Amino acid sequence: MAEKSKVLVIGGTGYIGKFIVEASAKSGHPTFALVRESTLSSPAKAGIVEGFKSLGVNLVHGDIYDQESLLSVIKQVDVVISAVGQAQLADQDRIVVAIKAAGNIKRFLPSEFGNDVDRVHAVDPAKTAFAIKAKIRRLVEAEGIPYTYVASNFFAGYFLPTLSQPGATAPPRDKVVILGDGNVKAVFNKEDDIGTYTIKAVDDPRTLNKILYIKPPANTYSFNDLVSLWERKIGKTLERVYVPEEQVLKNIQEAAVPLNVILAISHSVFVKGDQTNFEIEPSFGVEASELYPDVKYTTVDQYLDQFV
Ligand SMILES: NC(=O)c1ccc[n+]([C@@H]2O[C@H](COP(=O)([O-])OP(=O)(O)OC[C@H]3O[C@@H](n4cnc5c(N)ncnc54)[C@H](OP(=O)(O)O)[C@@H]3O)[C@@H](O)[C@H]2O)c1
Repeated sequence: MAEKSKVLVIGGTGYIGKFIVEASAKSGHPTFALVRESTLSSPAKAGIVEGFKSLGVNLVHGDIYDQESLLSVIKQVDVVISAVGQAQLADQDRIVVAIKAAGNIKRFLPSEFGNDVDRVHAVDPAKTAFAIKAKIRRLVEAEGIPYTYVASNFFAGYFLPTLSQPGATAPPRDKVVILGDGNVKAVFNKEDDIGTYTIKAVDDPRTLNKILYIKPPANTYSFNDLVSLWERKIGKTLERVYVPEEQVLKNIQEAAVPLNVILAISHSVFVKGDQTNFEIEPSFGVEASELYPDVKYTTVDQYLDQFV
């Protein structure tokens, strides 16, 4: 079997990045994490950093704004995965420049991990955020860098613990607010599984220059079906309050940051159906649970059990 690629994760200490670093190290890829000096000494990140050390991850000091450190670490690896957050998305052009200069990278996975940004019908502020990711895609393609874009859809941990009720700290037990008619489908994936599928893709020729959709059938639910599943678990019927699209759009305009962002993403997914309203064509995409049937992913049904 071919040797496993050396994987660099930029943004590895972030929310989704840590699951990717962990999956990479655990699956036997020599794994590197680019970490800023300030992060290494941050008490808030100490647990993550220690976890990486115990997994044998190579912690490399650097910063995406320090081209020298970026280039030097990129030259040591085969695959670059970016998991930087919102504030750094546009500045991933620096990573692209370094990958191009280094010339040795077999695969680049830019920071995506959400909707397929080329197939969204979003309004602002989500529209602008998605457009930044699409712009990075176009740059990667123009530079001829081999890529995989991971469309992981929703992080389970962001949406399922409250059934997507902004401001809530637990899933609803009396009343649930549903954007739109509740019939369009969305996809919820546990973060560990997103890490696992992402790492499986890095050396896979089937994901080369493709979008990897993480859309397992058992995690694809309409909001109405999600509520029904929850109702069965708690043995109670909830009052369902539907918010028509017109009202959702008005709420987005009136809300402050970050609620307007959350609402605009929710509008794209729950009202427009942007995670499920298109077919995955072999010309541009592949689906993770089909490619890797051996992965025993956590289903939404299993995930919700912890909240009963
Ligand atoms: N599908 C969903 O439900 C969902 C939800 C949220 C986010 N996302 C997407 O997931 C991706 C990652 O977001 P996230 O929320 O996981 O990010 P995050 O938690 O904000 O983490 C960002 C990472 O980037 C690092 N970083 C920041 N500035 C840097 C710099 N100058 N040089 C190098 N590293 C730097 C951070 O380091 P520190 O650890 O030092 O801060 C951290 O490791 C984004 O594309 C986002 O849109 C998707």
